[in-house]
Amino acid sequence: MNLQNDLILRAARGEKTERTPVWLMRQAGRILPEYRAVRANVRDFIELVETPELAAEVTIQPVDILGVDAAIIFSDILVIPQAMGCPYKMLENKGPWFENTIRTPDDLQKLHIADPEKDLGFVLEAIKITKKGLNNRVPLIGFAGAPWTILAYMTEGSGSKTFSVARKVLYTQPEFAHQLLQMITDSTIAYLKAQVKAGADMLQLFDSWAGILSPAQYATFSTPYIKQICDAITEVPLTVFAKGAFFALEDLGKLSCNTIGLDWNMDIAHSRKLIGNNKTLQGNLDPCLLYADHSTIKKETEKMLQAFGSSHHIANLGHGLYPDTNPESVKVFVQTVKQFNH
Ligand code: CP3
Repeated sequence: MNLQNDLILRAARGEKTERTPVWLMRQAGRILPEYRAVRANVRDFIELVETPELAAEVTIQPVDILGVDAAIIFSDILVIPQAMGCPYKMLENKGPWFENTIRTPDDLQKLHIADPEKDLGFVLEAIKITKKGLNNRVPLIGFAGAPWTILAYMTEGSGSKTFSVARKVLYTQPEFAHQLLQMITDSTIAYLKAQVKAGADMLQLFDSWAGILSPAQYATFSTPYIKQICDAITEVPLTVFAKGAFFALEDLGKLSCNTIGLDWNMDIAHSRKLIGNNKTLQGNLDPCLLYADHSTIKKETEKMLQAFGSSHHIANLGHGLYPDTNPESVKVFVQTVKQFNH
């Protein structure tokens, strides 16, 4: 591999780097006018995800425009339910929606373990085209949702403030939940391995709804499945981002992944103590900070870099960029990281 900039891969492995690498969750998307221009020429979000040439184009945009140290393949975590037989729609201004939910053991009969080459060929093709387009400038990050977060969408059938249907299932039908989680896990392992084969240099697992479970439920219904995925992925560095799961950091620190993502509710020094010194940490600026004036963005970013220290850190936000963020503010964040001397 002859990457011109492999800072992020070296940081993930805990190696010394000249400076802290930086990328942003949701860097490919609505904040960029260049993204909105591509998006305006397709029917909807899903068509963009399923057209490899266009997905590759919007994947590369933030590398050119924002100067980040990695690209993340433009797709969605919900391609896994679709590949298993449970298709989704992305409603304008409303978010994801599933016509058929998975709520009973009978519903499992409608599902199969995803076959990435057959069911997710469009993502694999987008990765191959992106790798050519990047021409080894920066690494490409592949991703998937963590099994609990995917189960939450499949049972609930849409986004939700409480995900009470999903959480109810854990109490009323734990055996069914475990069966579904195992099917999602098997599908995700095959999918992530296929992404690596197609060219992904690094992987991230998004457990976006980690923080709505109790510590005991998280230890029962999420961590064991994330562990299976970590143990299966030995090819490239893997990041686990469990949003809101401050209570699980000690357990996550025992996983075999390289990097743990922190959100902005998590104290950096305390998280480091819980996770231990072997892992690289990623994060964790509040995405709302990017609405502040440029000098505040710079000051707070430097404070964050200082708190994480000069190694074992990948700079990022504590969650995805909000769509109305000004790209100029994002550039201030990126430039501050790149110019910072520890
Ligand atoms: O730049 C990147 O980060 C890569 C692309 C990416 C998208 N979704 C594109 C997208 C990634 C990594 C995701 C992951 C994803 N998708 C997550 C995990 C990360 C997180 O935010 O916690 C989740 C929970 C989803 C599910 C999802 N997709 C929701 C809830 C929504 C609607 C909310 C919204 O922001 O509108 C989406 C839509 C979506 N996924 C958009 C993009 C760019 C916006 C739709 C559009 O552009 O039309």
